[in-house]
Amino acid sequence: MGNVSKTHRNLALLCISMALAATIAAGNFNRDVDITWGDGRAKIVDGGRGLSLSLDQYSGSGFQSKNYYLFGRFDVLMKLAPGNSAGTVTTFFLASEGPSHDEIDFEFLGNSSGEPYTVHTNVYSQGKGDKEQQFRLWFDPSAAFHKYSIVWNPHRIIFMVDDIPMRVFNNEAASGVPFPTSKPMRIICSLWNADDWATQGGRVKTDWSKAPFTAHYRNIGISGRPCGSAAACGSGVDTFSNEAWQTQGLDASGRNRVRWVQQKHMIYNYCTDRPRFPQGIPVECRRSRF
Ligand SMILES: *[C@@H]1O[C@H](CO)[C@@H](O)[C@H](O)[C@H]1NC(C)=O
Repeated sequence: MGNVSKTHRNLALLCISMALAATIAAGNFNRDVDITWGDGRAKIVDGGRGLSLSLDQYSGSGFQSKNYYLFGRFDVLMKLAPGNSAGTVTTFFLASEGPSHDEIDFEFLGNSSGEPYTVHTNVYSQGKGDKEQQFRLWFDPSAAFHKYSIVWNPHRIIFMVDDIPMRVFNNEAASGVPFPTSKPMRIICSLWNADDWATQGGRVKTDWSKAPFTAHYRNIGISGRPCGSAAACGSGVDTFSNEAWQTQGLDASGRNRVRWVQQKHMIYNYCTDRPRFPQGIPVECRRSRF
């Protein structure tokens, strides 16, 4: 076979594998998730391209991925409940099961009309969290769909909003900081009432005359090797195909963007909450390396 046709064949293979990667990433709620609670308040719409969750004074609602993943990239478009959403919490997170669980959280804390939502992020490893960072968004998350992503690879966790990195949590296990690398996680999303703490420290309660509250999810995208059960994921070794998220980090422009978000839009950072850590700030906070 001549070089030219070899090149063509390689190009064709590349196109096929890119097309496959694209199919894997374009998920479908019918195929990929189970509605887990809410007694009819969660609805899959538009042939599986969308899902809506609602909350009233009797119940919230939620769904989770059918599969577990050990590492992956998880994307979803979300449009949060508009107007007076005080007391409500809308979530998109990853969590393992069982004791000393791991978790990677995106939570959106509602607010009174005209007041901004708070984006709450946290990472739990081996059952221990205490790594909260909170942000305000640079847009109204209830006015339109925006994309929220979690990249979780053996090197780092990246929280992204519209592909702009908001937070990076590096694997610093070598310095004794626990990092989730062995417990497969599921995607879990919910809309629920947390008016005992969510809004302005619990001072602003949910106004049930505005119920039902509705949050919309669209275009769920999952890139990672699906395992039907946590045990089926096996060990944490990357043996699956080469995909960008597996080594995804930040280039110079990513570092600039995360700095911009952290300087202009971060409203709470556990790393600077000295009274909370009388023994000294956590190890991973001592170096601010993206
Ligand atoms: C709600 O708005 C108030 C006033 O702007 C702000 O202090 C608070 O952080 C906002 N978010 C939540 C979840 O309370």
